[in-house]
Amino acid sequence: MDKMIVQGGHQLNGSVRVSGAKNAALPILFSALLAEGKHCFRNVPKLKDIDSTASLLESLGCETSWEQDTFYVHVKKPKSFEAHYDLVRKMRASFLCMGPLLAKYGEAVVSLPGGCAIGARPINLHLEAMKALGAEITLNEGYAKASAKKLKGVPFLFETSTVGGTENMLMAAALADGETIIENAAKEPEIVDLANYLNAMGAKITGHGTSIIRIEGVEQLKPAEHTIMPDRIEAGTLLIAGAITGGEVQVRGCSPLLYESLIYKMQESGFKCTVTQDDVTIHPCASWVGVDVTTAPYPLFPTDLQAQYMSLMAIAQGTSVITETVFENRFMHVQELVRLGADITPKSRVAVVRGKPKALKGAPVMATDLRASASLVLAGLAAQGETSVGRIYHLDRGYEKLEEKLISLGAKIGRQ
Ligand code: EPZ
Repeated sequence: MDKMIVQGGHQLNGSVRVSGAKNAALPILFSALLAEGKHCFRNVPKLKDIDSTASLLESLGCETSWEQDTFYVHVKKPKSFEAHYDLVRKMRASFLCMGPLLAKYGEAVVSLPGGCAIGARPINLHLEAMKALGAEITLNEGYAKASAKKLKGVPFLFETSTVGGTENMLMAAALADGETIIENAAKEPEIVDLANYLNAMGAKITGHGTSIIRIEGVEQLKPAEHTIMPDRIEAGTLLIAGAITGGEVQVRGCSPLLYESLIYKMQESGFKCTVTQDDVTIHPCASWVGVDVTTAPYPLFPTDLQAQYMSLMAIAQGTSVITETVFENRFMHVQELVRLGADITPKSRVAVVRGKPKALKGAPVMATDLRASASLVLAGLAAQGETSVGRIYHLDRGYEKLEEKLISLGAKIGRQ
């Protein structure tokens, strides 16, 4: 069952609800380490990266459980403060356990995550931030060890906008002595969701969602409960699924403000969208034009929607230039789309897409990473004939029941 088989040419129509955001849930689950006791989370998406996070929390002495759709994390004093390589290599976001462990217990030994398909993914800025808070950092045999009696709040400037780095520093600073000011903080909505949960536990954080976040350290945090925000990347992926098949699809349960950069680009390309407070409906469009996109930190066009957008541009009328500024190797889907008949020329961080309606013909292709796998499924929906997407386990890391959602909209898709 390693392949997704997509029969192309079927219009998607109907309404679909977005699940909770993977990239909000992961840091929020790790933040539970800051407060011993039972934390309660709703709208946590059921997907592989959540399972990996649960395994890592359990390796640190926590108990996790599902009761219907509520996820509980019962945090107890860890037996060890080590996040093992076998767990971290499966999911780089495991590195987010460093900040909470260091702040709460004064020690964290976390395997360096290593690179991944889309880039080197260094964590140097995470370590700079921990050092700035007073931690001693040693790197040894593939592990980063951080220790500190008590972290001390400081002003700190991130030289590059980093989501994970901002999240690690937010969590560490919550229990530091005094005030921390994070400058050039990442502004992604998932950072806001994390800060909201930290404040629910008793932290004193202001400015989240802007590039300057202030954290007044407190003595102790208490377990709380939280509903994870909706997944804006899944919402954008589902909107493109409707658009690329020429159907009418309502994407429910995610504010359009969270992915308006995509909505604007699709409208510029010729699509009509009906937008309400929590839903976006894409209307049938016989043809659309190529529109350039450059990815960048929020609120600009998200790198996590670049591959999906490229599939849409592959069958647009005319050329679009897609520039990837966040990761150095996030065009692994290009050659697979070319196998399906797309006319795309990648050059370092720029891909020229010569769009042509009906250019895509089904073929076997291979997924290389999470968002690339989504882009290949989307292309398969629009291609003539059958597309099989191999190594579909990549998709299961970040999308909850994607094929069920697409089938409910009329897609002919299944696993083999
Ligand atoms: C988060 O990754 C997301 N993952 C990514 O989503 C997302 O693409 C990325 O943010 C950008 O929005 C999670 O939230 C779990 P970064 P993260 O630190 O935190 C460089 C998906 O598909 N950098 O903002 O790792 C880095 O190399 C995933 O859901 C350093 O140089 O991203 C990159 O060029 C993929 N040093 C840039 O910053 C550091 O210490 C942005 O990375 C850290 C980052």
